[in-house]
Amino acid sequence: MANSTPMSPVLLSRYLGQQYPPTEQQAAVIGAEPGPLLVVAGAGAGKTETMAARVVWLVANGYARPDEVLGLTFTRKAAQEMGKRIRDRLGSLAQNADLVRRLDPSGELAKNLEVIAPTVATYDAYAGELIREYGLFVPVEPDARLITDAELHAIATDVVVNYSGGLLTELGSNPSLGTWWKTCSL
Ligand SMILES: Nc1ncnc2c1ncn2[C@@H]1O[C@H](COP(=O)(O)OP(=O)(O)O)[C@@H](O)[C@H]1O
Ligand SMILES: [Mg+2]
Repeated sequence: MANSTPMSPVLLSRYLGQQYPPTEQQAAVIGAEPGPLLVVAGAGAGKTETMAARVVWLVANGYARPDEVLGLTFTRKAAQEMGKRIRDRLGSLAQNADLVRRLDPSGELAKNLEVIAPTVATYDAYAGELIREYGLFVPVEPDARLITDAELHAIATDVVVNYSGGLLTELGSNPSLGTWWKTCSL
């Protein structure tokens, strides 16, 4: 159950022995009411940091269990980093028994922290997992997978090269393969 007076992001970061506190802007995001939230920030602005702290804040204040967390990002490197930061932080929270008891004297939070298994993945990997697990309901073969850009190009080339009819493109009829690719990437 969610705490009626949640612990502030700055106080939580202090209790967790974080090296530096979140900035005012980060704190506003970390401790925002649960629900959809769009945050726009540039490279190196502290987005990953903020997302990790947001997860810990939500868990610490009883809004979510670790296994209810889903973090998606574009690259494998970013997913790895986000996953590590989230797990490390939830781990520090779990180890701080005094803090956990203070946040939730009922013991539910301590129980929730026994298994720290958030899902953090790339969009592609997660989509693939959904297909593997639930594809048959659609129905899609469970071993179906997303094709890569290179495979996409290979298949498209194959289709064009093996097409025996006439081709009409913006650049004229029956263009060379090179011209066709140019048309595709316009
Ligand atoms: N409030 C803060 N105070 C000091 N350093 C911070 C703070 N927030 C993030 N950082 C540091 O800034 C750097 C970039 O943060 P990061 O979350 O990786 O940014 P982004 O994901 O937006 O590229 C990291 O080294 C991080 O530890
Ligand atoms: Mg980042």
